[in-house]
Amino acid sequence: MKKVTLMEQFKSADEGGYAVPHFNFSDIWDLEAIVKGAEEMHAPVIAAALPKVNDALGMHVVGAMAKALAESAKVPVYLHLDHSTQVQVSQRACDENYSLVMLDASKETLEENIRRVKMVVDYARPRGVFVEGEIGMIKGRTEEGSYTEDDFLVRVEDAVELAEKSGLDILAVGIGTAHGFYQGRPEINFKRLAEVNEALGLPLVMHGGTGIPEEDVRRAIQNGINKVNVGTIIKYTYLSTVKEVLDREGPTIYTTELMLPAVNAVTEEVKRWIKTCMADGRA
Ligand code: 13P
Repeated sequence: MKKVTLMEQFKSADEGGYAVPHFNFSDIWDLEAIVKGAEEMHAPVIAAALPKVNDALGMHVVGAMAKALAESAKVPVYLHLDHSTQVQVSQRACDENYSLVMLDASKETLEENIRRVKMVVDYARPRGVFVEGEIGMIKGRTEEGSYTEDDFLVRVEDAVELAEKSGLDILAVGIGTAHGFYQGRPEINFKRLAEVNEALGLPLVMHGGTGIPEEDVRRAIQNGINKVNVGTIIKYTYLSTVKEVLDREGPTIYTTELMLPAVNAVTEEVKRWIKTCMADGRA
């Protein structure tokens, strides 16, 4: 299988009117489900590890595990470091099979955000690795704490300045989405999204995918989103299936018999999201 670069993948997503789905994983089982779902749907896919997953398993192990699965996959599978707030961690991932690394300095001043993202870009570029930055705020809980204020909306001029001065490749934007489950329907500012897209001409990322209705995901794609991040529902599906089987069978069950139903359940969720992103049949 010929694997195009992730930026080429985003370009075809932009031209083809779909988004490349991003799924967070935490071990070999949910990673396997992500690859399986993508293969069954003939879709390109981004498998994303949070820094806490790398801290627990070791970045080298996570990188090697993803490389092994990606190499034997029938579709393009790209490894991504999600929500790293530390320049050195993002830089190190460039040497561990990551295709895309994030440097999230959205809580810092614009100048500091630019400075940190640029340090990662300068390291990543010669290594052929792409960089995601963030501007505006994603609401809800992340590893670094919660953001619940109202000042989340991306400012167009800030997005342009960050992109131009740092040289980043793709940009996550605060448009009203939140990490975790939503209380009620999310209020996405599609107008601001369209304005940023118009001003920037770079692939844009929508975080907080879990719980966004299909029509809103698609409307966001029409307005410039090329990557849709989905995490919470993957973890929830995985863990609730494990709990259900364990409650029923007890802890004398073989580990594989416990985990395979979870892999199957996550695979179905992955397939559903691939369809929502209209990425099916694109690989
Ligand atoms: P959810 O957990 O809300 O789906 O968001 C995932 C995400 O944005 C990861 O970067």
